[in-house]
Amino acid sequence: MKKIGLFWGSQTGNTENAADLIAAVIGYEHVDNYNIRDVGADTLAGYDSLLIGTSTWGAGELQDDWYNVFPSLDSLDCRGKTVAFFGLGDQLSYGDYFLDGMGILYEKFFERGAKVIGAWPAEGYDYSGSRAFVHGSFVGLALDADNQDHLSASRIQQWVSLIRPALL
Ligand SMILES: Cc1cc2nc3c(=O)[nH]c(=O)nc-3n(C[C@H](O)[C@H](O)[C@H](O)COP(=O)(O)O)c2cc1C
Repeated sequence: MKKIGLFWGSQTGNTENAADLIAAVIGYEHVDNYNIRDVGADTLAGYDSLLIGTSTWGAGELQDDWYNVFPSLDSLDCRGKTVAFFGLGDQLSYGDYFLDGMGILYEKFFERGAKVIGAWPAEGYDYSGSRAFVHGSFVGLALDADNQDHLSASRIQQWVSLIRPALL
């Protein structure tokens, strides 16, 4: 079985918590779990299966730590890599930019040739705009710890069961 590289950026711990639960549900033995603050694109290059997580800050910006790595993603060859995204945002306070950070990372990895899996339906969310909404669904798992924290664990369970076979 392949090892999955799980990379996340988190300002106040919400994305970190989601990453921990995702790793637990997949099985810790299958996952190498990295805070993106601590590694560079060379570490991502070592995995055929990637799980990529970010929250959104500012008005539709990536979580800060991703900015250190973002420029070097331009030299990451993602052909042959299978990638799934998860994002944390606040649909009530930032409904025009809901989960935009996940959309920014999706665009980059897609452009680099990644096979993207793990699209997620947008039903059950209340927002007006999102860069992470592409071709009728979210490009990855949509989580909102500010307004729908009670749904996060079941969403993670359901999403992981969809993507797990393609990652391992
Ligand atoms: C100043 C500020 C700006 C934010 N901007 C956005 C935004 O543009 N879009 C969005 O979906 N969420 C936005 N959020 C919500 C965060 O993404 C959300 O609280 C998230 O759970 C934080 O996760 P983290 O602790 O992993 O960084 C913002 C929150 C704050 C406090």
